[in-house]
Amino acid sequence: MTILGIETSCDDTSIAILKVEDSKLKILSNIVSSQVKVHAQYGGVYPFLAKREHQKNLPIVFNKAVTKAKNPKIDLLAVTVGPGLEPCLWQGINFVKNLAEKLNLKIVPVNHLEAHIFANWLFSPGKDFNFHSSVFKKNILPAICLIVSGGHTQLVLMKDIGEYKILGETRDDAAGECLDKTARILSLGYPGGPIIAKKAKEAKNKKLKFKINLPRPMISQKNYDFSFSGLKTAVLYDFQARSLKERKSKEYILAMAKEIQQAVIDVLIAKTLRATKEYKVKSIILGGGVAANEELRKQFQLKIKNLKLKTNFLAPKKEFCTDNGAMTAFTAYFHQGESKELKKVEANANLRL
Ligand code: KG4
Ligand code: ZN
Repeated sequence: MTILGIETSCDDTSIAILKVEDSKLKILSNIVSSQVKVHAQYGGVYPFLAKREHQKNLPIVFNKAVTKAKNPKIDLLAVTVGPGLEPCLWQGINFVKNLAEKLNLKIVPVNHLEAHIFANWLFSPGKDFNFHSSVFKKNILPAICLIVSGGHTQLVLMKDIGEYKILGETRDDAAGECLDKTARILSLGYPGGPIIAKKAKEAKNKKLKFKINLPRPMISQKNYDFSFSGLKTAVLYDFQARSLKERKSKEYILAMAKEIQQAVIDVLIAKTLRATKEYKVKSIILGGGVAANEELRKQFQLKIKNLKLKTNFLAPKKEFCTDNGAMTAFTAYFHQGESKELKKVEANANLRL
């Protein structure tokens, strides 16, 4: 079966074509057109501009995806219907509806957060990959999924494919949003996560004269919720308390990048590991843009090893951490029986798992 997946929930326009046959998966194409440059001047995603860019990019991305995949016969269409920015979601949905009419195909609506989980089984384009649901269920499930992106921070108990329980989530800002806002305070550009990660890496073995102590919000609370808005405010207060010269100094920027990244990592790891123990799961599964963070992945693995936990640790290949159409198409493969009539495919900005 050949599936075409469309993703436009935020600021990436992406279309992918996958071939799945006898549990063998091949990514024929996965084209991502990022709008980073358009939004950089605002320090965050500007929904109206994002919508306009999706509209402009979708036909171009579609042509590239089809050409790269060598014009295959498509059997099924998939589109992200939420959660995300509503005007952006509608761009992908309207585009896929047009295709469905032209090609006389069915559409599977996809939950973006579930797609971030399934991104863990995507391998490099062109390569074959065997995916056996029964082996996956036996060896990996149940699992605790930590979905961390620019829009979401959620801890989810995955009991089965399609069976999820949200254990906790952020009460205000998402982890990625906190890194993006910190980068904005420090005038480092957008998106903040990768820039902060780079600076934090640079700070690693340096003796810095600045000692910054940020809070670890909600780390000891016996629930699975998060709160990152106070952390961003703590960054702002520290920044404002510094002299102009200090604020602009490389040493201060490196020290702040290291501390904010560590504060976010400490909270994410502590809560995830507590859920892992409480629910006695077999695996920890990461997903979302922040899952691309090298230090987060390293520290997770180290903690699991030091605590002698027998938990599997899964994180997607970096190119599949951030938004992409391949994860949308692959998720639809598991929900192929849930295709909908065209008029019933609608955006739901607050869709839950
Ligand atoms: O999943 P995603 O592409 O879009 C949303 O659904 O939000 O995630 C984007 C977020 C941004 O906040 C970005 O700063 C963050 O992921 N991010 C990172 C890294 N790469 C992207 N955060 C930390 N470290 C990274 N290497
Ligand atoms: Zn996302």
